[in-house]
Amino acid sequence: METHSGLRHTTTRIRHWFRDAVFTDRTASDYFAPFFQAIDPDWVPGGTVATLERIYTETADTKTFILRPENGWKGFQAGQHVSLSVQVNGRYLVRTFTIASTPHRFRTTGTLALTVKRNPDGRLSNYLHDEMRIGARVNISPSAGEFLLPADLEHTLLYLVAGSGITPAMSHIRQLVEEGFTMPVTVLYYARSKDEHIFLPELRAIAKASPRLRLLVANTREAGGRASLQGRICLSHMEKALENRKPTQIYICGPRGFEVNAKSMLESVDLNEIAITTESFGGLALPASNRENPSSHPLRLLNSSQILDASTGKTLLETAEQAGLNPPSGCRMGICHTCKCRKTEGRVRNLLTGEISDAGEDIIQLCISVPETEITLDL
Ligand code: FES
Repeated sequence: METHSGLRHTTTRIRHWFRDAVFTDRTASDYFAPFFQAIDPDWVPGGTVATLERIYTETADTKTFILRPENGWKGFQAGQHVSLSVQVNGRYLVRTFTIASTPHRFRTTGTLALTVKRNPDGRLSNYLHDEMRIGARVNISPSAGEFLLPADLEHTLLYLVAGSGITPAMSHIRQLVEEGFTMPVTVLYYARSKDEHIFLPELRAIAKASPRLRLLVANTREAGGRASLQGRICLSHMEKALENRKPTQIYICGPRGFEVNAKSMLESVDLNEIAITTESFGGLALPASNRENPSSHPLRLLNSSQILDASTGKTLLETAEQAGLNPPSGCRMGICHTCKCRKTEGRVRNLLTGEISDAGEDIIQLCISVPETEITLDL
């Protein structure tokens, strides 16, 4: 046991060197990965092993996982996310989660908090909620994301958040509290019912201690509890949020439909010219023609020499997974770039931008790409 942990420690240092010095692309890291994984099965290329230290139950379907990454993980800025991967039954499951804690907390305790809402269809969130035990080892990517606080704090901030969209906002707010914030901050926070608002006691305590934080809590489905508002985002909610406060920086985070509604509300109150930072989650909308009349194209996979039937009604990631493959993926919405893959030929439509690629070689993100023609992938 002693020998194994010593070997693991040495291997950790070697692979950090390899990660920083050698692993400049996925091909190189894939080449060396089996060697390191034979010694430490929890490690994946480009990542850092982290140990689960504590679990907190936030709501009936949300838990916070406190992780301690190994030395060498470079930290994060408030509002960023990481891809977390776990080996389950011999397969790596990877998803992206936003960090709810603060950089200061990481610097002082060496830990970070990931708050994960259970997705009934999500294999990884169900695994984390039901199977993960203290001491378990997972793998996290370097932090990434642009949902960041403004560089200067001479702003009036407005957060429009729904469901687990509160998580990156919470990282911001906790950092602002640590720094003794002086700017006005308004949080308009939606969840379905009174029991589903994550972090609500902490937010109420901050608002009670500081009148600079205006907290407006809305139940979208069930009346009651201590929510001050009822129903989905609307003009009367916006008026309450904006009373005597004109924001100079707006953050929107929640399901994709919420983002669309929030932006249209901002347009209605002439705030669409203000700096808006958004982060949304949930499936990307396929064009109606792909949804209603999908066709299919051959998808050639160079590494496995397979030819799959790729429907225009599915992303290339979904097609590969349904064929039993396990390409790396994280956010599944075009944010983390974990699923990037080399296309050697064929045209794909990018679901985020609507653009159609040219037919030549290109790096694409499988989770937001649907085929327009026959495709060949370096997969
Ligand atoms: S899985 Fe994150 S960009 Fe595709």
